[in-house]
Amino acid sequence: MRTVEEQGYHFEEWLTPEQIAADVQEVGNRISVDYHDKEPLFVVILNGAFVFAADLIRALKDVRCEITFIRVSSYWGMSSTGQLEFIVPLQQVVDNRDVVIVEDIVDSGLTIHQLKAYLRAEGASSIRVATMLYKPNKLEYNDAKPDYVGREISDEFVIGYGLDFDGFVRNLDAIYKVKNN
Ligand code: PRP
Repeated sequence: MRTVEEQGYHFEEWLTPEQIAADVQEVGNRISVDYHDKEPLFVVILNGAFVFAADLIRALKDVRCEITFIRVSSYWGMSSTGQLEFIVPLQQVVDNRDVVIVEDIVDSGLTIHQLKAYLRAEGASSIRVATMLYKPNKLEYNDAKPDYVGREISDEFVIGYGLDFDGFVRNLDAIYKVKNN
């Protein structure tokens, strides 16, 4: 089993590249069935989701789609003006669009909860969420429950495949879990 050390912490491989690819293909198959007669807009939340998103859209079969990217502040909530704090703002009109939000991980669900409210207000006709990882035990917002999940995970620290440790190790080709020692 492969291991990685980062900033004094030890991690061991949890999902191999092959396991990840199988999970992504399964999610892609489900989305392909659900969206073959639609033209979805994939809204990818930077930074973490860029790796999953790149694989996911290539796992789709016969889905005519667009993809766009946003980045939101980790410290946001709704600001005093009721607007989301975008670091990279949404550049596509979502009015009347079937939107699929793409995440690397859904944790408390706050990001999804607030982004969904924003997209609804902007007129999206449907909104679903695809995520590589989902922590059901941590979910605090019911409407943030993801529709398409690569893998469920308990409350453990994971890195790789887009997931970072202080900005680093997103480029690992597998997903690693922290070791408890
Ligand atoms: C992570 C992750 C999700 C969010 C999930 O982003 O990519 O966007 O946190 O947490 P939540 O469900 O509790 O809202 P992060 O702010 O670490 O930014 P990154 O994607 O750039 O790593």
